[in-house]
Amino acid sequence: MVSQLYSAPASIINFDSIKDLTTTETKAVDQLIIDELSSDVVLINQMGHYIVGNGGKRLRPMLLLLAAKALGGTTSSHLILAAVIEFIHTATLLHDDVVDESELRRGKESANAVWGNAASVLVGDYLYSKAFEMMVRTGNMRVMEILSKTTTAIAEGEVLQLLNCNNPETTEQKYLEVIARKTAILFSAATRLSAVISGVSAKIEESLAEYGQHLGIAFQLIDDALDYKASQEDLGKNLGDDLAEGKPTLPLIHAIQKGSASEAKVIIDAIKHGDRDAFNAVYEIVQRTQAITYTEQRADEEAEKAIKALDVLEESEYKEALVMLAKFSVQRNY
Ligand code: IPE
Ligand code: IPE
Ligand code: MG
Ligand code: MG
Repeated sequence: MVSQLYSAPASIINFDSIKDLTTTETKAVDQLIIDELSSDVVLINQMGHYIVGNGGKRLRPMLLLLAAKALGGTTSSHLILAAVIEFIHTATLLHDDVVDESELRRGKESANAVWGNAASVLVGDYLYSKAFEMMVRTGNMRVMEILSKTTTAIAEGEVLQLLNCNNPETTEQKYLEVIARKTAILFSAATRLSAVISGVSAKIEESLAEYGQHLGIAFQLIDDALDYKASQEDLGKNLGDDLAEGKPTLPLIHAIQKGSASEAKVIIDAIKHGDRDAFNAVYEIVQRTQAITYTEQRADEEAEKAIKALDVLEESEYKEALVMLAKFSVQRNY
């Protein structure tokens, strides 16, 4: 397995061969997700299966499971928590697509486009609640403390982001604060929880949490770059949604800094007015100022920090897979 992972060219990460390392556990987690989605309220069943059945990379549960295996093996609590993390992630997506008015998710019409905003908000709440119901089954107070702090921070991140919307004066630092909370903390919780359940030392727990946090920041930096440069088909989401929302993401923040006065004005106006029609003009300036390259470099630095944090782990194919997933987070195109 290790050699198979290593044989991939440096620039292409073989995501499927990493996935193969947790096939059995991932199947169990998927089954748990399906079982837990069943409710006698029909709409919950329908929407839950719609969004979960549409796929998704299942990256967060994969990180949790790989971390567990790198630490010696998975237990039933690891499996429950992998499902819990995916439920929380899915809940944030349902809510996020309402807030962002996004109409495409995982290559299909978003749940809000099919069932409307009210249903998406309520079923998102259901998934959050379900996640908390499931986490209690681990009977572990630290788990509950970590997950409740995590969801609080995610909500803070989303609200902070809302405050930054349409504000072209948002700084790189403010942007980084948002993505640390809205995205990275859930990755960090996934890998930290694995360590908590495995009962390893505080040092290893902190290192794994650090790995998740840096990987999560890299992941969101690339998500924000992909919103300008991806192929819509690969991404399964509409390009330009961030601009339409007037979201000051790093590609735009950097382009304002590096562009000429007139270029900066085009971007500032587009942020102020959330102008999807300005996409082509903005895209050209983003390219000319190398704002995507800059964002990718920042992501690369975060991935390197994530990989460094893994130094405390003993060598194994699972550790190698965690290294590869940090690289995948930067090199992905979906
Ligand atoms: C999308 O996450 C939301 C972000 C934090 C950028 P993913 O890209 O992991 O979404 P799925 O689960 O694979 O659809
Ligand atoms: C990530 O932000 C959202 C969450 C952390 C919930 P985005 O708004 O960029 O995510 P996508 O692009 O819609 O998946
Ligand atoms: Mg969004
Ligand atoms: Mg995005």
